[in-house]
Amino acid sequence: MGRFDGKVALVTGGNRNTGLCIVEKFVREGAKVFMCGSSAESTDKGAAALKERGVDGVTSIPCDISDAAQVAAMFDRIEREAGRLDILVNNAANQGIGHGGPLEMVPERFWDVLKTNVVGGFRVTQAACNRFFMQQESRGVVVFLSSNTAQRAIRKRTAYCASKGAINSMVRALALDLAPLGIRVNACAPGYINTERWDVLDPKIAARRRLNCPLRKEAKGSDIANVVAFLASDDSANMTGEIVTCDAGCSCQHMPEDVDM
Ligand SMILES: NC(=O)c1ccc[n+]([C@@H]2O[C@H](COP(=O)([O-])OP(=O)(O)OC[C@H]3O[C@@H](n4cnc5c(N)ncnc54)[C@H](OP(=O)(O)O)[C@@H]3O)[C@@H](O)[C@H]2O)c1
Repeated sequence: MGRFDGKVALVTGGNRNTGLCIVEKFVREGAKVFMCGSSAESTDKGAAALKERGVDGVTSIPCDISDAAQVAAMFDRIEREAGRLDILVNNAANQGIGHGGPLEMVPERFWDVLKTNVVGGFRVTQAACNRFFMQQESRGVVVFLSSNTAQRAIRKRTAYCASKGAINSMVRALALDLAPLGIRVNACAPGYINTERWDVLDPKIAARRRLNCPLRKEAKGSDIANVVAFLASDDSANMTGEIVTCDAGCSCQHMPEDVDM
């Protein structure tokens, strides 16, 4: 018996990397899962990747979450095909990579990041919570993917760091307003996660990053999926408004070991 037997989950950005691991985790624990990516091309690739992992029964929906009409269409489809929703994982993110530093960054790129990570995340959450509200017997749960960069900035990612800080504040505010309705809202804040971007990383940089982690390793997607599943399950039934960090101890460290003497 799985923790999510009979539950319906939506994972945004579930078509690759961490999102794909979250989708796999929910399916393996019994949920009926819908996942979206920003385009049909990316969701098709995601569906193929899930098949390769032996994960069946996932419905993939192309949906740019920064677009109100596409979000509405996605929820119409979930309504038609499942008639309920129990779990929302707001995983999709515009990483804001390559935007440059604060002096040269084009302000419109800043907005692109907020439009997906903050406004898009809110839009999907609002639609999900309106669905949850119709389910008297079992109200739903929302999990956001934040980042430890909300607290400890990384270089040339101003918009991304700002968006994750906004997500942390939004999680607390949503949790407060939605608690009387029985809806819980929490976040997992990862540090380094081994995604496809690590495949092209200079091995020396990868090794130095690991040295930066007190546990000497970056997270696997499955490590993050485990935390997300905990926050989505009744195992965290008395938690709301929490930001749970999963970063190999990076946030508790002032300096990495090789310069801390
Ligand atoms: N990787 C890390 O080291 C790390 C660290 C801390 C926190 N996080 C957070 O953890 C989560 C997963 O990270 P990740 O590195 O696995 O992400 P990722 O590889 O960058 O993938 C991002 C996902 O979001 C989707 N997405 C982006 N914009 C979208 C939009 N407008 N509408 C719908 N989907 C959209 C992408 O879909 P397409 O494929 O269609 O583009 C993709 O599935 C993110 O929230 C990230 O900020 C990651």
